[in-house]
Amino acid sequence: MRPPADTMREPPVATTTGLAAVAGDAAAELEDIVHEYPDRSWGGEERPTHAVEAGVESGGVLAFPHLAFELSADEQRFLDPRWADAKAKNVSLRWPSGELRGAAGSPAELAALRHMIERYAEHSEALASRLFPHYRGHLRRGNSSLRPQSVAGRTRSWRQDDARLHIDAFPSNPMQGTRLLRVFCNVNPNGEARCWRVGEPFEAHARRYIGAIGRPWPGSAWWLATLGITKRRRTAYDHVMLRLHDLAKADGEFQRRSPQRRVDFAPGTTWVCFSDQVLHAVMAGQYLLEQTFYLEVEDLQQPATSPLRSLERLMGRALR
Ligand code: SIN
Ligand code: FE
Repeated sequence: MRPPADTMREPPVATTTGLAAVAGDAAAELEDIVHEYPDRSWGGEERPTHAVEAGVESGGVLAFPHLAFELSADEQRFLDPRWADAKAKNVSLRWPSGELRGAAGSPAELAALRHMIERYAEHSEALASRLFPHYRGHLRRGNSSLRPQSVAGRTRSWRQDDARLHIDAFPSNPMQGTRLLRVFCNVNPNGEARCWRVGEPFEAHARRYIGAIGRPWPGSAWWLATLGITKRRRTAYDHVMLRLHDLAKADGEFQRRSPQRRVDFAPGTTWVCFSDQVLHAVMAGQYLLEQTFYLEVEDLQQPATSPLRSLERLMGRALR
């Protein structure tokens, strides 16, 4: 592992050929990350795919290549970056208030845009309820977002650069162990895939960096919350997750050479994963809808598979 300072300026060259360098077992494991299902409808009936909690909890990405989110003729106009206001990269609906953020337009236009994104939230909820009956009544609706910018050409600091493999963890929004389940749908009208890389299993990833994580400054969690930098207390768990996020993104050697594979999600594909567990990076694409759900560790079918429990096992102490 390289110290982060080495790689902070120069973005690593993304590779999609890492798989070739991976020994047999790791390669086979990566092949198994994406599970494809034939579903053509979002909610309702229990078929064809139902009760797949084990697949997603073990770090799988559940992909539905025939599950498109249909836009009306009128809504097609929202597939244009001009709807995102100058500062925001995404247009989002914040729940429970339902406030629309990051969008620019007339009141009537914004109402129609809001309606489209809200419909996506409802479709995602219907899908999650069918796929994961064990989570019914426990999933909490987080933000819904439309990502209208092209991934190519975005300039970001290394820490915000999602073209580097990472697990999701946010400096201002501590999860305190709560899971992040995300439903993505590629709504690109021009045939362009959303291209991801996915990487090694969570526990192997945590082992890679565990010696470099360190402890937070004493009192820092209290200060961060008191000054309003964090929305709630940054727990030991959040500290470790943020360090994993940063150490991975800053490590050029890891980005280039770690076990990884490329996955292209064609337009009309929906996919679901725990993004706090699956190593992922986005390499290309434009026009994505994304719905976040929160789930408590205790409400998983197998809480032992969660990042919180994995890290507690590895570190030999409670992290909440
Ligand atoms: C991410 O969550 O890192 C980005 C996913 C995407 O925009 O495709
Ligand atoms: Fe991410």
